[in-house]
Amino acid sequence: MELRTKLLVGGDWVDGADRFADVNPATEETLAQVHEAGPDQVDAAVRSAREALPAWRDLDPHARSVLLWRLADLLEERAAELAVVETLDNGKPSFESAKVDLPSVVENFRYYAGWADKLGGETIPVSGPFLNYTLRQPVGVVGAIIPWNFPLSMAAWKVAPALACGNAVILKPAEQTPLTALLLGELALEAGFPAGVLNVIPGRGPVTGQALVEHPGVDKISFTGSVETGKLIMREAAATVKNVTLELGGKSPNVVFADADLDAAARGATTGIFYGKGEVCAAGSRLYVERSVKDAFMEKLLERTAKMVPGDPTHPKTRLGALVSKEQRDKVLSYIEAGREEGATLRAGGEAASVDGRGYFVEATVFDDVDIGMKIAREEIFGPVVAVLEFDGIEDAIRQANQTIYGLAAGVWTRDVGKAHRFAREVQAGTVWVNTYNRYDSASPFGGVKQSGFGRDLGRYALEQYTETKSVWVALDG
Ligand code: NAI
Ligand code: MG
Repeated sequence: MELRTKLLVGGDWVDGADRFADVNPATEETLAQVHEAGPDQVDAAVRSAREALPAWRDLDPHARSVLLWRLADLLEERAAELAVVETLDNGKPSFESAKVDLPSVVENFRYYAGWADKLGGETIPVSGPFLNYTLRQPVGVVGAIIPWNFPLSMAAWKVAPALACGNAVILKPAEQTPLTALLLGELALEAGFPAGVLNVIPGRGPVTGQALVEHPGVDKISFTGSVETGKLIMREAAATVKNVTLELGGKSPNVVFADADLDAAARGATTGIFYGKGEVCAAGSRLYVERSVKDAFMEKLLERTAKMVPGDPTHPKTRLGALVSKEQRDKVLSYIEAGREEGATLRAGGEAASVDGRGYFVEATVFDDVDIGMKIAREEIFGPVVAVLEFDGIEDAIRQANQTIYGLAAGVWTRDVGKAHRFAREVQAGTVWVNTYNRYDSASPFGGVKQSGFGRDLGRYALEQYTETKSVWVALDG
């Protein structure tokens, strides 16, 4: 596939108001000059979406299903190429793009293709001589603003259910990783989606993103990204009372009890923090280990960490890629510096790295003797850096796990079923993994509590984010 760099608006590839350089973070080379949507292009995208909406909303549900399925087929046919682009743009290992991201994106479109013709309302028994029923109707024009860590997956998580429900979508990919979103737009055209039903408009957050959030013609903003930007969007969206879904950051606790299978727990803790270079909103970045097994566990953890060597992301054996940008690399390094200054013990990594003298890599880093008062235990680092803390017993585990402003995900490792379920019930998180970590499925809801946001992606729960429920009363005594 040839790269697309222009904006997809109303079925046409159009020029932006400006351009920005999209960089390959593993080589520091510019991949493309990508067009940026200014307020005029955002307005054009909104107008084309509004124009496309009535026919799309009223299309036979089965026809929407067929189109989504066809798009899934095209994504599957081009999966290998898309995975390469994703890796070049983001720096993630091709193992992840090709074996995890792309298959799940295809599955996601098929999953929501299946829902498109199954969105019924209900009849409700009310008092009096009335028939009362509900209609599930699309919200309207949806602005999807997504981050750079899982570019195509995040696009799929929002675009697939929104389209299945009959909404028109304006997708704003992150400026660090716009390429696969543009190719998704191209494949949607090829699949036969009507012009304007899916628009793709790259651009920087404060330019393109903000214009989309402010636009009165947008009915809903579905956002995944940082807490700061989420708060800003919530404030901005208030001006036009937009429906908002926010999936924000995390500082997720991964809790290892003394009775756990320590080898499995060490493996899960390693992938829990180093998968996706730690640029994962659900990363298990606070690793709590029960005191009595701490030394034994640390030995296993460090052994596995030593194998996470930064490498060329395009190499199939690489498991730790480049961070997405110089900014992100520098931010992660500044947290490592803070960890050292605040007195945590550095047990592995801690330095920037490069491959052939280039790239924004950071070593797999383990801090021990971390205190919850330290910055590295409180703030989302979004990099391959884990903070190890200790606990004693279930009460202490739950108390410490919840000692955060976030509530996205949590992991627990134990052979005691009662302990596992009690932890799952009492931990404040949108997702809990028991004796596993970082599991996702199109059918299972994902999202946060507390400052990790509200609303859910995936599963049938996402359908609620993209539909309004209308109550209809019919007098029967007429
Ligand atoms: P960000 O939250 O600012 O960016 C995410 C998306 O929001 C991008 O598409 C961006 O263009 C857009 N955006 C930014 N400002 C906007 C605005 N004023 N109005 C509308 N849209 C806007 O995250 P950024 O700056 O890329 O990364 C900063 C930090 O955020 C990272 O270091 C990381 O800690 C965290 N982060 C967390 C993510 C998560 O999934 N939890 C994803 C990305 C970043
Ligand atoms: Mg890039």
